Amino acid sequence: MNNSGIKILVTGGMGYIGSHTVVQLIARGYRVVIADNLCNSNRNILSRIAQIAGQEPQFYEIDLCDKQALNDVFKKEEDIKAVVHFAALKAVGESVQHPLKYYRNNLISLLNLLEVQELFDANNLVFSSSCTVYGEPDALPVTEKSPVKPATSPYGNTKQVGEEIIKEQCTASNLRSIALRYFNPVGAHESALIGELPIGTPNNLVPYITQTAIGKQPFLRVFGNDYPTPDGTCIRDYIHVDDVAAAHIAALERLLNPPSESEGFEVFNIGTGRGNTVLEAIRAFEEASNQKLPYHVAPRRVGDIEKVFADTSLSNSVLHWKAEKDLHTMMASAWEWEKKLKINPLV
Ligand code: NAD
Ligand code: WQD
Repeated sequence: MNNSGIKILVTGGMGYIGSHTVVQLIARGYRVVIADNLCNSNRNILSRIAQIAGQEPQFYEIDLCDKQALNDVFKKEEDIKAVVHFAALKAVGESVQHPLKYYRNNLISLLNLLEVQELFDANNLVFSSSCTVYGEPDALPVTEKSPVKPATSPYGNTKQVGEEIIKEQCTASNLRSIALRYFNPVGAHESALIGELPIGTPNNLVPYITQTAIGKQPFLRVFGNDYPTPDGTCIRDYIHVDDVAAAHIAALERLLNPPSESEGFEVFNIGTGRGNTVLEAIRAFEEASNQKLPYHVAPRRVGDIEKVFADTSLSNSVLHWKAEKDLHTMMASAWEWEKKLKINPLV
């Protein structure tokens, strides 16, 4: 497919998954426009994207909650054909403390986007959803037909409600959308120029591991070793961020060239289909970095899911996409990124 000239708006394109996706979109010949307010990212990511991709995408520093500013981007760019919508706040714990901040940011920005897309007849949307919509699953692996459980955090609720809003808009208008439910994206680009950039103390496992190994954190706490799993620690489906990014290209190309059987709103699991325990993740990191990681077992973290991993047969067969990178590569790339950040910090 010849994509040159097709213009894609990437909201949140300066962020972790967004920046990796932008790099792949440019490599595929798309013209990329980024809209991001930098609330959880850094301006210098732009030149790093350019270093990898060979060109700098157009960047608008705007808040998607500002509808006029978003409208101005569509007006100025004229021919945006599709949107990949990453922009959202994503810290589960913070969302429990500040629910309104999350509902305002994640939902007002989505409503603005959908209204402006309709106005400009830009009718294709890839939406960042999350495995959090499945809660604690009754059966594993989870398929897209597994029940969506009542959200356990305002963040999770913004993903559930976000999917519903988009689905209803697809029914009511010309919008076509694919929601991708990511499992646990980790790792970094092989150049180590872009990667995950937690602000403050990380909540997620892999940045906590790499920050411990580099000496920013004294030790890792393993939250619980009394779960009914082979080694007592929780199980997740860790997936390399490059594989997650590639899923967006596949989803976008399905929207741009819809096969006759495709529906207006579709949902796909984006994982590897494999579950790993926390201790397995630590061991993989130790092997990849060739060093021991200081950790000790701590009490369970409130709200943690015991085990979850994806059935990816639908995304494999329908999107013609499959995760390729293994846990070792995820850990090795996360470690290269952390080491490079120390030598060459972004801020
Ligand atoms: P991130 O925080 O690195 O990137 C999000 C980007 O959106 C940031 O650059 C931030 O500055 C921007 N942003 C946020 N609110 C904005 C607003 N109102 N206007 C403009 N820009 C705004 O997060 P990420 O890990 O890249 O996640 C991307 C998306 O994927 C999010 O929607 C997140 O909820 C979802 N998701 C992430 C994970 C994960 O583990 N990383 C898992 C499942 C789903
Ligand atoms: C993974 C495992 C922890 C930190 C979160 C969001 C979810 C989704 C993905 C966005 C768990 C354990 C962690 C630590 C540990 N994001 N752990 N010590 O909990 O699967 O999901 O990210 O949609 O909504 O909730 O990811 O990386 O926080 O934890 O032992 O210091 O690592 O208990 O078993 P989680 P995580």
